[in-house]
Amino acid sequence: MARASPDAAVVTLRPLGAEEAPLLVAHVAGLAPASRHSRFLGGVNLITEREALRLVAGPDVLALAAMVAGPQGSLMVGEAIAAFGTGDCAEFALSVADAWQGRGIGRALLASLARRIAPRAGRLHGEVLPGNRRMLALAAQAGFSLGTSRSDPRLVTVMRTLDADTHPAVWLSAA
Ligand SMILES: CC(C)(COP(=O)(O)OP(=O)(O)OC[C@H]1O[C@@H](n2cnc3c(N)ncnc32)[C@H](O)[C@@H]1OP(=O)(O)O)[C@@H](O)C(=O)NCCC(=O)NCCS
Repeated sequence: MARASPDAAVVTLRPLGAEEAPLLVAHVAGLAPASRHSRFLGGVNLITEREALRLVAGPDVLALAAMVAGPQGSLMVGEAIAAFGTGDCAEFALSVADAWQGRGIGRALLASLARRIAPRAGRLHGEVLPGNRRMLALAAQAGFSLGTSRSDPRLVTVMRTLDADTHPAVWLSAA
C-alpha cells in the first residue's frame, strides 16, 4: 500500500494533545537506535504511554508535532517539546523520523517551538551529545550559543534568548 513519501509531502506543525501521547510512543519506537540515543542523551530506549503523557501534557510543557497526511491517515514525522522551569528558561528536545531528516523539519520545529514559547520564556536551552553534529549545526544556525553543560560536562549546552522578532514563521516547502 502507498505510504507518505518524504519526496512529496506537505508537513504541518501543530501542538500535540494529551490524547495523542500514543503517537509519541510510536514515533520514539520508530526512531533508529542512534537517533533515540541522541534524542534522550543515551538515557532512554523506548517510552511508555505514561511517560509520553508526562512529556506532552500539563501546564508546564508545550509539545509540537510535525505531521504529514498520507493515504493511511496522518503520520507523525517529528516532535519538539519544551518544558518550562521555575525561572525564565525553558528546556527543549526534539527528533525527526529518520527517513524525514535533512529536509528542514528539525529547523522548522525548533523555530516554531521558540516562537510559541517566546511569550512565556526569555531563554531556550537544550543539551546535546557532543557527537551530534547535525543538532549542533542546527542550533548554531538558529542563533543558539554553545557551551559546556554545568549539570554534565560530557554534554554540550545550547542556549538562546527569545524575543518577539527573532522567530518569524517558517514555511516548509511542499514538493
Ligand atoms: C537533529 C535533528 C532534530 C535535525 O532535524 P532535521 O530535520 O534532520 O534537520 P534539518 O533538515 O532541519 O537541518 C537543519 C540543519 O542541520 C544541519 N544538518 C542537516 N543535515 C546535516 C548533516 N548530515 N550533517 C551535519 N549537519 C547537518 C544543517 O545545518 C541544516 O541546515 P541546512 O539545511 O541549511 O544546511 C534530527 O536529525 C534528529 O531527529 N536527530 C536525532 C535526534 C536528535 O539528535 N535530537 C536532538 C536532541 S536535542
